[in-house]
Amino acid sequence: MPYTVPKLTNFSTSALDGAVRELLSALTQESAAVASENDWKTFRDRWMARKNGILTQLNDLWLKAAPGANKREVGQRVNELKSKVGPTVDATLARVPSGALSKGRFVGRAKGGDSAFQYRDDSENLDITLPGIRRPIGVEHPVINTMNEIVGVFRNLGYSVEEGPEIETDYYNFEALNFPPNHPARDTQDTLFIAGQESKLLRDRLLLRTHTSPVQIRTMQKMKPPVRVVCPGKVHRNDAPDATHSPIFHQVEGLAVDANITFCDLKGTLDHAMKALFGSSVKTRFYPSFFPFTEPSADVQISCIFCDGKGVRDGAPCRNCKASGWIELLGCGMVDPNVYGFVDYDPAKVSGFAFGMGVERIAILKYGVDDIQLFFQGDVRFLEQFG
Ligand code: PHE
Repeated sequence: MPYTVPKLTNFSTSALDGAVRELLSALTQESAAVASENDWKTFRDRWMARKNGILTQLNDLWLKAAPGANKREVGQRVNELKSKVGPTVDATLARVPSGALSKGRFVGRAKGGDSAFQYRDDSENLDITLPGIRRPIGVEHPVINTMNEIVGVFRNLGYSVEEGPEIETDYYNFEALNFPPNHPARDTQDTLFIAGQESKLLRDRLLLRTHTSPVQIRTMQKMKPPVRVVCPGKVHRNDAPDATHSPIFHQVEGLAVDANITFCDLKGTLDHAMKALFGSSVKTRFYPSFFPFTEPSADVQISCIFCDGKGVRDGAPCRNCKASGWIELLGCGMVDPNVYGFVDYDPAKVSGFAFGMGVERIAILKYGVDDIQLFFQGDVRFLEQFG
């Protein structure tokens, strides 16, 4: 039985309490049952229509019917209910999937009329006093937010921003970065190639870029040293999705080339960046690694932000750093002189460093997220926590 506003005869406090409770529980139930925008409109009209909506009926059946001595208390109750129904109706719409509005429509130039447009409501009973549809504004996605924050740290150091295409050639993604054809280092990149290009030369074949490093090459082809750029963007790898892997993720690449840039500059820059991102008490450590386009190469680790680098938290081995006290975060190194050969820089005159970091990985650490998939599922309950 749907709720109907009772005609009140007993105006005692306890009777009013009961009537209010009954009305609010009907409101909650009906709000919960709304599953579409059309449901919502029926719901809104039932509660808020000026002619005969439930709120209007409260005026007639409760307020006007109340004896003089009870008017004040009944008036307060009715006002409280009004202040709850409006927001509940708004909030109900906010969680309903939006669809095309089905009721009213704009119609074209009226025949012989002056106005260019007329508004026609199919049901011919438009109540212009009803609240409009308020769409939630939304917030920046946590991955984009983190990417912007990283870029901001380097902008403050004087870096500018460069972007490159997500569909790359083998040349930019590999060859110019000193990955020789058939070199095993290519296998570590789990590349997704675009099909049907067997007739092309290897270097011209298209693929989904596996890292943002090709933007290093495009930047150096475009400008002469001194170069200081960061390159944010989306990358793709043929990885099965799980809690820590996604076939689509984001990186921020960095490149600095000038006269006399040293490994010290690289260390100082990344140490500063990690402190800016994770807090000034974070320490960094550079661990030998390999990338074909940097020599020497390093993985940068930061002291574990969960156990303060102790390896132990709450008396148990820290799970975030596997009790080591360190978390591996990014790859970097001095630009390999071979790379300069591909972009017409003179390796005798310039030196530089490059680095690349995974944005989701940093967002996971910053926000304490336990599954990378959450970033890509579009679940509003997850995303609205970043509002
Ligand atoms: N492109 C490397 C990767 O995706 C990271 C990197 C960038 C390493 C720049 C060194 C210098 O793994």
